[in-house]
Amino acid sequence: MDMTSVCNRTTELNDWVERYRSYAALGSCADYIPALRKADPSQLGICMIGADGTIVKAGETESPFTIQSISKVIGFMAACLSYGIEAVLEYVDVEPTGDAFNSMIRLELHKPGRPFNPMINAGAITIASMLPGSTAESKLEVITALLEALTGKSLTCNQEVFQSEWQTAHRNRALAYCLKEMNCLQSDVEVALEVYLKQCSVEVTVEDLARIGMILGCDGYDPLRKEQLVAKDIVRITKALMLTCGMYNASGKFAAFVGVPAKSGVSGGMMAAVPPRAKSRELPFPDGCGIGIYGPAIDKYGNSTAGHMLLKHIAQAWDLSVC
Ligand code: DON
Repeated sequence: MDMTSVCNRTTELNDWVERYRSYAALGSCADYIPALRKADPSQLGICMIGADGTIVKAGETESPFTIQSISKVIGFMAACLSYGIEAVLEYVDVEPTGDAFNSMIRLELHKPGRPFNPMINAGAITIASMLPGSTAESKLEVITALLEALTGKSLTCNQEVFQSEWQTAHRNRALAYCLKEMNCLQSDVEVALEVYLKQCSVEVTVEDLARIGMILGCDGYDPLRKEQLVAKDIVRITKALMLTCGMYNASGKFAAFVGVPAKSGVSGGMMAAVPPRAKSRELPFPDGCGIGIYGPAIDKYGNSTAGHMLLKHIAQAWDLSVC
């Protein structure tokens, strides 16, 4: 994209950020994790990175925030890279649930069984337990290594958020015990939980999420470093999971009205992967792009209220839908 287009797109994005910022009032910061309650709910920031390296940003883009459930995308890909897709799918399925992200109901209803997908907590805790290594540190390292390879920088775990989650993870602990009883876990409950909660506490920025989204949009190939970072078949399944399960029990509506593979987290982060669109050469980012958004006020499903509306608007204006 040339400099004039970058300036024009930035102006548009700035306008849209200001227009949708007020939607934060329809949600509130996650309060079940005390450390997340402190965020400023009115913040809204976005970064888009194109396959040609163009970066367009608007709003508050420098605040770091914890990646939360967006890490489920990385955990799933890390497990597939370690064992192959077929082996991983013996432990988690690829079916949407229509239930809350931390629901237990389907584990009870489908016995013997496995978590419906890796984007809900039951699936992500199962994935955390099966990562290579026998300690929480070694398993977490597999996820961090992939995250760092994708973002191209070293990342840190927010200890305050981790401690806060660890002390209040009653439902996740119950889920993990339930999974253990069903023989779904490949490690002790405490190891799986530590990996899962620490992966959720890794700090990122909207630019980091946009970079990962761009690589996923390009089927695992990083056009800037000219390197295949994740195999195409793994990325294809991951994007299908993002489209069908990435926004929890709002995934159907999100697919219908936004139409891009995306994943949200309770800290208010959103990551979207937009593939190349042959029919939209005159619109921005025809060769695909990644989008990172941060808007900490979330709705009852756990998705950023302002972020959702902002992404919906951009997807319509710039024809980003894959559907
Ligand atoms: O499992 C939890 O409670 C969180 N650490 C992650 C949840 C999350 O981000 C769900 N999101 N929408």
